[in-house]
Formats: sequence, C-alpha cells, structure tokens
Amino acid sequence: MTMQSMHAQPLKIVIVGHVDHGKSTLIGRLFHDTGSLPDGKMEAIQKMCERRGMPFEWAFLMDSIQAERDQGITIDTTQIRFKTGRRSYVIIDAPGHIEFLKNMVTGAASSEAALLLIDADEGIQEQSRRHGYLLSLLGIPQVAVLVNKMDLAGYDASRFGEIAEQYRGYLESIGVSASGFIPISAREGDNIAEHSKHMPWYQGPTVLQILDGFEQPPPLEDRPLRLLVQDVYKFDHRRIIAGRIEAGRIEVGDEVLFSPSNKTARIKSIEAWSVPERPTVAAAGQSVGVTLETQIFVERGEVMSHAIDPPIETNVFKGRLFWLGQRPLTKGATYTLKHGTLECPVTVERVERVVDTGVLDRSDATAIERHAVGEVVLRTRRLLALDEPHVSPATGRFVLVQDHAPVAGGQISMKGYPDQRDLVTVRATNITAVGHAVTREARAGRNGHKGGVFWFTGLSGAGKSTIALAAEAELFTRGFQVYVLDGDNIRTGLNANLGFSPEDRAENIRRVGEVAALFADAGFVVISSFISPYRADRERARTAAKDDFHEIYIKASLAVCEERDPKGLYRKARAGEIRDFTGIQSPYEEPNAPELVIDTAELSADDAVARFLAYIQARLA
Ligand code: ADX
Repeated sequence: MTMQSMHAQPLKIVIVGHVDHGKSTLIGRLFHDTGSLPDGKMEAIQKMCERRGMPFEWAFLMDSIQAERDQGITIDTTQIRFKTGRRSYVIIDAPGHIEFLKNMVTGAASSEAALLLIDADEGIQEQSRRHGYLLSLLGIPQVAVLVNKMDLAGYDASRFGEIAEQYRGYLESIGVSASGFIPISAREGDNIAEHSKHMPWYQGPTVLQILDGFEQPPPLEDRPLRLLVQDVYKFDHRRIIAGRIEAGRIEVGDEVLFSPSNKTARIKSIEAWSVPERPTVAAAGQSVGVTLETQIFVERGEVMSHAIDPPIETNVFKGRLFWLGQRPLTKGATYTLKHGTLECPVTVERVERVVDTGVLDRSDATAIERHAVGEVVLRTRRLLALDEPHVSPATGRFVLVQDHAPVAGGQISMKGYPDQRDLVTVRATNITAVGHAVTREARAGRNGHKGGVFWFTGLSGAGKSTIALAAEAELFTRGFQVYVLDGDNIRTGLNANLGFSPEDRAENIRRVGEVAALFADAGFVVISSFISPYRADRERARTAAKDDFHEIYIKASLAVCEERDPKGLYRKARAGEIRDFTGIQSPYEEPNAPELVIDTAELSADDAVARFLAYIQARLA
C-alpha cells in the first residue's frame, strides 16, 4: 500500500449519542481543536453570542454550519471533515434516525469506526443501551466510548469507573468490544486533543489519540480481487468475460478462480474500452473484459477472484437490512436476492433482531415493518459467492426485490455460519474408483438386515447419546450389526483436530457423514449422534448415504436442554467460559422434514428408545 493511497481516503466515523449528551458540542470541539473550522466562523458566533448576551455554545456553531450546509452555501455535504496530524476524518451523518440508519445499514454510507457518547451526569440510561445495541446491529468494527460532561460530574474518577465498567459489561453482552473508554468534557475540551488537567487520574488516550489509533481498511485496489461477471460475449472464436473490478487488481497471466462454479483459468488478455492500447493490468473501479487461456463455462453472476483469497461459498447467511417494503418482511417469505450481478430466489428463514428506527427500540417481532432495521437469516437453494462487507463492500451487500421493486438493502454477516467452500472443493485428481466384489445384497443376506444411517440431530442435552446407546445395546441383542458414532467420541480421535468454529463443525459432519455412509455400505446399522447444527451439512450426509439415510430429530427446546444441562456446559456457556456454544452463541437449524421426530420433552427415556426401535425395525426388515 502506498502512503499516498493511505492518506487519500479519510477514515469514516459515526458519532452515536443523543444531542443532550453533547453530540454537537463534541463535533464542534473536534473541529476547533484540530483547526478544521472555516476561517472566522468561531469568532462570528462568539460575537453573535456577545451581542445577544448569551454564553457561547458549541452547538450554535454547529447549527450555523449545518444551516449553511443545508443551503449549500459554504460546505458541501461530503465536507464534514476534520484532520489530525495523522489523517483526515469524515463524520457520517444524515438528518434523522431513519435516513442515517438506511444509509448505514444498506452500505450506502458505512463507517469504519464509531464514537459513542454517554452522559456522565445522567449515567447509563435506556438511550445509551439503545445506541449500543444499534452499533452491534450495524456491525461497526471499532468503537470507543466517551463518557461526557465529566465537568458536571466533578471530574470524579469513581463516577467514570462505575459507568465504564457497567457499560463495558452491557456492550460485551451484545457482542461489541470497545477499544477504550475516555472521560471527557466536550464543552471544556478535556481529553479531546490534550490530556485534561482536571483528571490527572486518567492516563489513557485522548479522543484524537484513540481516533488516530483506529485501523483503516486498505484501499479497494489493495484488497482481494473481486470482479463481478456481467456478461460473456462471443467474438469469432474468443469469449470475452465482461465485468467490473470491485476490489483488487488483475494482471495478464494471473490464475483466476470463478465462484461459485469453482473453475480456474489463466488470464490471456485484458480488453478495455476506450483506451488506445491493450492494458496488461487493471484495478478496482474499472470495467474490463478478460479472455482466458482455456475455455471454461462462465456465466453472469459469478465472481472472479484469485485462488488464494476467494469469496465465501454458502447457501445461508445473515443479512442486516433496512426494510422499505409497504408490506412487512415476514418469516418464510421468498424474495428475489440481488447480489452483485446475480439474481436468485431467497427465503427468510428467521428474523433474529428488529429495531424500530423511529424510537430506536428493539423488539422480539417475527416481522420487520417498513423503515425498521433487522437481522435475518436468509437461505438460497444454490451456493452463492459472497463476502463480509469489510472484505469487499460490493460483494458484502445485497438488495431484496419483490414484484420488481426493491424492498430492502442490507449487508452480509457470516457470524455463526460456515464458509462451505472447503466442503465442496475436490482437490484429488487422477482418481479411479474401484468396485467391490462383495455386493450389498450379499452383505445384507449374511447379516439378515440392510445397512443404513440413522442420523440423530438436536441440541446438546436433547438426549441423542442416551437414546442412541440404549438402542445400540438392544439392537445388538436382537442380532443386528450396529454401531453408534457419537460426537464426543469421534472428537477424541478421527476429528480430534476440529473445534467448534462453524467451519470445524461443518467438516466434523462432512467426515462423519462419509464414515457413516461407508459403515452402511459395509452392511452396518449406524446410529450417528451429533448436534449437526447446519442443514446444509445434514443434506450432504444424506447425499453421501443415498437411500439409506434417515434424519431423526431428537427434539427438546433450548430451555429444556439448559434445565437438564447433563454436562454442565450450558452453565459454562452462560458464564462465558465456553464460546460458540450451540443454542447460546451459535445457531441450531431445526430439520425441515425429518423422517422421524422424537420429542424428549414429552416422552420418557424408555418411550423415546421404544419409538426409535419401532421405526428402525420397520425400516430394516
Ligand atoms: S457438532 O456441532 O459438530 O455436530 P458434536 O455433536 O460433534 O457437535 O459435539 C457436541 C458435543 O461437544 C456436545 O455434546 C458437548 O459435549 C461438546 N461441546 C463442547 N463445546 C461445545 C460447543 N461450543 N458447542 C456445542 N457442543 C460443545
């Protein structure tokens, strides 16, 4: 990255807080202390105050600048900037909550850092909680909390400590970790540009220091390559793949990967329009055509990248969206997803969080009304190639369309969901499968029953292992070749190298699915007992075992499992000692159409086993 490109882009920040908590005062102060105010402005307002016999307020200054901005007099709207010695900043703002949130959530004006204001005098009120929640929903990666009006709180260290501790706990509970807490007085200029003489007990960074410490994402052209394929043109024998480079750069000779089709080829030439000579390189922001050395089938909607930094492949993701539709977004509804140059149907699987943008209040609704912000889980039939917005804004956002009208804009989050790329990538080449001389029928004939996979899925503590092991013992007594594959066992051997990240869980289930299919092929009755939280993974296990697969939902609600807590893990998860625990911080996707449901909240353990045995006997006869 060149120094020039680093300085060319200002860091985009938002200041979240109520006007009464000193938002305009802080902005005025930041402008003043960094020498960013228009010449003579400050003096003019001071004079005006004197004339009218009012004390000077920073807010007057900001109001006056705002008014001029609105009329387009002095500064245009992109000019809410200030500069420190290190770099320039632009404050992202918009009149009113709704407009502001719409811009932020849809990615039209996203920001890279946030300053959140709390009033030291008032302490943590509902407002401050709402603001924190909003930040977590917006997914802004860097946050500093400014405890303002310390002058009114007597510059009291313990008052600051109390607020900081309480608010830090709250932010952590909603998944936001603050880079720092600073006691300030925006009005008096304490700890803004200079350390305050009134608070010698505070040794941490000033506001400008913390701002200058925030990381700035690299310019688009220095990020992983993302070219959105718009069209493929055929000219004589050549095929030209046309699209816009949204991030990164390409060079003739580069090996490139197309997703989600997962085909690779080398760039033979770059064709650019309206330039005299054929370029050999091209970068973010340019629309180009490329020809490839080998002819592969590529179509509109695919994403071209380099093989080392590919986009995520998935058919399920979280969307934080701003809803514009006349009718509310509802769970189960299908819309048209527009992502890059791709359009395909998408179904709302779950509504996770909703915030009413008018009053900034959160609700437990399962629908999202017009002009509200929400987080939803979206699922497509096909695999998509996408990113989180910090990697590439263009492939990190999406639009939902209904009846040809856009109804939502939003950004992608993969929190809790795995990148499925590794699961669908076949790396082995030059492989020739061999056939067995012993047929399945011969095996079934000797065993006296067919093989099959009985796939238990459900939350930890739902009773999967208990039922599986009791059924195994009973079936063995009855003469079946039967074996239980259990999560906690397999994870000490075959899968000992896997943890509980979304990708590791997916790989865990991929391997077990293949092993179970092999067991079944060998004639065994396999009972597999894994949480297996993702539908896509269970579908792959089904595909591996073909007709011999039975999905069995061992059903018990989170509340019931947590109450049982046989291994004490829920308690640990709630206490923050285990991260990514299923049902607490990590998702569980219930089966859509399982072959059998065993509700262990209603059945006794014996009845649950009997229910399963009855099912299995009928299938294996
Ligand atoms: S799965 O999600 O990958 O299918 P699996 O069934 O193999 O999980 O393992 C689940 C078991 O691991 C649980 O029953 C529990 O004993 C233990 N475990 C440890 N950490 C976690 C966690 N973060 N989430 C869920 N289970 C966990």
